[in-house]
Amino acid sequence: MSEPRYILAIDQGTTSTRSIVFDDQARVVATGQAEFAQHYPEDGWVEHDPEDIWRDTLATAREAIAEAKLAATDIAAVGITNQRETTLLWDRATGEPIHRAIVWQDRRTADHCATLKAAGHEVLVRERTGLLLDPYFSATKLSWLLDNVPDARARAERGELAFGTIDCFLLWRMTGGRVHATDATNASRTMLFDIHRQQWDADLLVLFDIPASVLPEVRDSSSLFGHCVPELFGAPIPIAGIAGDQQAALIGQGCFERGSAKATYGTGCFMLLNTGDKAVRSENRLLTTTAYRLNGKAAYAIEGSIFVAGAAIKWLRDGLGLITHASQTDDMATRVADNGGVYMVPAFVGLGAPHWDAHARGLITGLTLGSSAAHVARAALESVGYQTADLVAAMIEDGAARPSALRVDGGMSANDWLCQFLADILEIPVERPANLETTALGAAFLAGMAVGLWDGPEAVKALTRQDRSFTPAGDPQRRADLLAGWRKALERALA
Ligand code: G3P
Repeated sequence: MSEPRYILAIDQGTTSTRSIVFDDQARVVATGQAEFAQHYPEDGWVEHDPEDIWRDTLATAREAIAEAKLAATDIAAVGITNQRETTLLWDRATGEPIHRAIVWQDRRTADHCATLKAAGHEVLVRERTGLLLDPYFSATKLSWLLDNVPDARARAERGELAFGTIDCFLLWRMTGGRVHATDATNASRTMLFDIHRQQWDADLLVLFDIPASVLPEVRDSSSLFGHCVPELFGAPIPIAGIAGDQQAALIGQGCFERGSAKATYGTGCFMLLNTGDKAVRSENRLLTTTAYRLNGKAAYAIEGSIFVAGAAIKWLRDGLGLITHASQTDDMATRVADNGGVYMVPAFVGLGAPHWDAHARGLITGLTLGSSAAHVARAALESVGYQTADLVAAMIEDGAARPSALRVDGGMSANDWLCQFLADILEIPVERPANLETTALGAAFLAGMAVGLWDGPEAVKALTRQDRSFTPAGDPQRRADLLAGWRKALERALA
């Protein structure tokens, strides 16, 4: 029998679950996808039903394997990538979660974070984890579960409960409860993990009042985590790669060298710059995070998160009714000679990096009677470029070298006009891969490397293909004027 040469990648995201089968040339063979319900029980609270996630993971994986006309024995390994930080606590005996998952966007622990911050604890958190004391991360969500679900803390103390991010929960379920583990990238988003020593941090466990008994084991991102119970797919497929989705996209883009960078444009935008074996500490409120851990060796990245990118275009469509399809913005932006002095600051949910202003609100400035829908659409697209430029500037101020290129992916990167604008405003070539499924591909690379389908980072990098490169053009004075216009608008939006 010939060796299996396919990889199944599971990409469990915030709004949908996708399963993709890749062949050994990193080509997509088949895809399964399902969207699932979002729960908003109170203002600022966001929850997912873990059973929805489990159901869709199984269904989409089976669908992809069937569509590829493969048997489970053709799959060399499974890779998992996931929405990060989202927090789950389950019963070790039954595998039943004791509450819905608290999603990364959930702000219910804002007061808890503010209290800890006021007491001066952010220094310790930043030092050990590279993160900011913010409800975004898992630690305060986990302590909320322990304090608010009846009996949870006592059960946790007795060793009856297991904590995990989504990857960890899926791994538990797929191995029939045999493996309670996560990878170093997911661990580094919990606010409980020392990214320098690469281990859970006893001081942070005390600070957030978390019993060590709930914690999973932390492993390399590319390693044999366990085997699927045969009943799931018909064979005990090894699970051999795990990484948080933004880190997986970095890997799927082949950004293994120090100085290489990627930006994923979905609802928001997450930009990661590989800083190699050095964990660069940001003075500009960017995050320091584990990029991946291979053979026991961690690589680091600095990360900037923009909350609104594609969501601004969605707002043009659903909020303003200005367009009927996102792709129209490409055409509209081209139709006008310039932005006509119109700027949009899409601070609909406050501003993320590098401003971190939860109270900032969105605005459109510079409107005249000559302003048209096309100007507003162009301003929305431009705002994505300016926000990216702010991240790049912050990274450079933090001592990073200017990236030699920015690799883009995610839905919005299909917009040619935006890619060219990004290149112009950043003065950095923008490269778009042929396969925009970089997140799933990153998980596949990790799994494939662990089972020997690919030799290592160089081998997988050779499989990434560019679709198009956008070269910076345009007049430096015009660029400076545009950035000055953006800054003026931004000042008005900040609270
Ligand atoms: O940190 C949150 C991020 O991992 C979510 O990504 O693509 O599921 O929105 P996505």
